[in-house]
Amino acid sequence: MLPPGPRLPALVQTAWFLTNPARAFERCHEKYGPIFTLRYLGFPPEVYVTTGELAEQVYQLDQGGGRAGQARRDFLEPLVGAHSVLTLDGESWQRHRRLVTPPLRAKQVAGYRDEIASIAADRIATWPLGTPFTLRERMQEITMEVILRLVFGIRDAARLDRLRALVPQLMEVASSPSVAMTPPSLRKVMERVPFLPNARFVRLRASVDEILFDEIARRRAEPGGTDVLGRLLETELADQEVRDELITMLVAGHETTATGLSWAFERLLRDREMLDRLPDDEDYLDAVVKEVLRVRPVVYEAPRVLDAPLRLGGYEIPAGWYVGPVIPLVHHDPSAFPEPAEFRPERFLDGQQSRSWMPFGGGRRFCVGAQLALLEMRVIIREVLHRLELTAPDPAPEARRLKNVTFAPAKRTRVIARVRTPARTP
Ligand code: HEM
Repeated sequence: MLPPGPRLPALVQTAWFLTNPARAFERCHEKYGPIFTLRYLGFPPEVYVTTGELAEQVYQLDQGGGRAGQARRDFLEPLVGAHSVLTLDGESWQRHRRLVTPPLRAKQVAGYRDEIASIAADRIATWPLGTPFTLRERMQEITMEVILRLVFGIRDAARLDRLRALVPQLMEVASSPSVAMTPPSLRKVMERVPFLPNARFVRLRASVDEILFDEIARRRAEPGGTDVLGRLLETELADQEVRDELITMLVAGHETTATGLSWAFERLLRDREMLDRLPDDEDYLDAVVKEVLRVRPVVYEAPRVLDAPLRLGGYEIPAGWYVGPVIPLVHHDPSAFPEPAEFRPERFLDGQQSRSWMPFGGGRRFCVGAQLALLEMRVIIREVLHRLELTAPDPAPEARRLKNVTFAPAKRTRVIARVRTPARTP
């Protein structure tokens, strides 16, 4: 038997999902329970699960039986290419994962702490004072700079300027429905229609690639460096593979972390008491970051494509279908997190980690940048709160809005900043 789901045509289900995905998931969860099916136009059906236990079973497919790379390929390959740890499976994935993991381990990224703080401090100094602005783009500037300077190791000012201008445009157009939802069979045709965003996407990607290949050539000529690119160039990866992994870290690593930070401030500004405990209580700061990623997880699902039929939750799911945990719903399971809608960092203060906490996915495909992301979030929150007094001009919570595979604050975290008096020294 197949898991239950709406009987509406795929076109209607796609439109419903795109209009309000958070609501669509919640409604299906209420109506059908912890495992349900949605059907999207042009793609195989997807089975969603909403408990930690069922999610674990999905992640176990990474040992064999499910492919995360293929599940992401339809959406991500145009941007990150075919040689990316995101889109590969099997032995080639293992090889790439082995090569990109070491420089992103906790011990390695800890060395980036001061540089991250200094990048943040420089950007924060440019924020407007006394007038409302949106934090999300500002966070994106910081997290992009972290990737460009610490991961890619780019120092050349002109090259940095070009990338600072091009990358946000590329990410924006990549997330437009016309590009993100184009089935692979139509992609080439749509990329040739000059007035469609698809054609602009291809042009922007070519401009970014030109800079990346240039940088790779320059670094091959002058080996060394403690950044991630320097370390990748010491491996056996070819230029195209290195390019794909660089873009991967940019795509997977900067908007996600910026969105996590935007949610952190969106939540914190609605609780003065919590703000007053920050940023100097390090344990509390760590708990705040974990609780933000629980209550407002950035990435909403972690799908796998089935190689073979799968028995899950009493149902039989056919080969070729997608199966994925809905992370926000797993995080709102009251048996794992009592009163799940409450923003309560104390949950994470006793050092216990719930198996149901999965903002970075799970299994062997667990986010390779998790340690860098957590460090960035702690350091950047600290830098902001040391310097500025932030308030939310509108006390109502911001809704969740779909952006690619992420949920972002609908108003991009509107804030008003004032200089903190007396200033605290970091
Ligand atoms: C708050 C920030 C971030 C969040 C919420 C996040 C979340 C995720 C999630 C949910 C996955 C899928 C895991 C799965 O399928 O089980 C993932 C994979 C991945 N992430 Fe992150 N991520 C973040 C930051 C980063 C950063 C900073 C980097 C790199 C510098 C990064 C690189 C990757 C890569 C390469 C993968 C694919 C791993 C694989 O398939 O082996 N992410 N991330």
